[in-house]
Amino acid sequence: LWTPARIVDDAVQKIRDQVGTDKVLLGLSGGVDSSVTAALLHKAIGDQLTCVFVDNGLLRLNEGDQVMDMFSSSMGVKVIRADAEERFLRNLKGISDPEQKRKVIGNTFIDVFDEEAVRITDVNWLAQGTIYPDVIESAASKTGNAHVIKSHHNVGGLPETMKLKLVEPLRELFKDEVRRIGLELGLPYDMVYRHPFPGPGLGVRILGEVQKEYADILRRADAIFLEELHRADFYHKTSQAFAVFLPVKSVGVVGDTRRYEWVIALRAVETVDFMTARWAHLPYELLETVSNRIINEISGVSRVTYDVSSKPPATIEWE
Ligand code: XMP
Repeated sequence: LWTPARIVDDAVQKIRDQVGTDKVLLGLSGGVDSSVTAALLHKAIGDQLTCVFVDNGLLRLNEGDQVMDMFSSSMGVKVIRADAEERFLRNLKGISDPEQKRKVIGNTFIDVFDEEAVRITDVNWLAQGTIYPDVIESAASKTGNAHVIKSHHNVGGLPETMKLKLVEPLRELFKDEVRRIGLELGLPYDMVYRHPFPGPGLGVRILGEVQKEYADILRRADAIFLEELHRADFYHKTSQAFAVFLPVKSVGVVGDTRRYEWVIALRAVETVDFMTARWAHLPYELLETVSNRIINEISGVSRVTYDVSSKPPATIEWE
């Protein structure tokens, strides 16, 4: 009989049999898959696990601190936080092509991760949050390009000298099963049922060149949108919702002062498989609240728009 408790027990036993007393390294992103992997490994092998969490400066508001609070402070997992915001921003300077940005972010991630990884001595295993659909996806692609989506998390470029063996405890599980065992392991509901967040993060939600000022504005706008979605009980009725930073200026007026500031687009979709998606028909009142709050609370924004494009032909992300 399939129960989350049994899956956890089996997985714990398997991990112990597989790694014995060896040390294991895991790239923790804060996403569902890597978080459940971390919780599971921690249960199985405790301090033999070390996680590396790369803060690329392109995360959502307070996300880095939340990841550290949950795993390090609450659960007692060994987590090394690599604060690499400046390095990512430096490498992204002058780059505006979406695919190029993805490459730079992915490569910088690997560099930062590797630098942290080589400092941890005597590691034999690299854990990955690969789930069953990822396995299918890579198998379907002879060129191996299908892992591009996850390439950010699935660190492929570890130094040869490390020669790590792979441990992938979620490899046979579907997303919904991963979520259920996440709950079983004590991870909070809101974490386990969070919307997906792309590896390159806000890097592909700031159109064109990434700048810190833009990222800071976008983080605040995005947090307001998500907060209001939760408050109106619409977060779990949408599959993915987020704000996008448009690097164009638009005129607004506050009192009798004219202002000329940035534009924020809101995106929310309903989808089952993320291959096709319908724009979410959110209530006007909700959109109004979000728009008012963003413009009133963030001085660098003068206008908010709502994206009414479905996929296809539009993609979910703007880049
Ligand atoms: P699109 O924009 O292609 O997005 O309709 C479909 C789903 O994939 C996510 N996405 C990404 N995830 N790295 C990721 O890890 C990426 O480069 C990337 N691009 C898109 C997107 O958020 C949506 O859930």
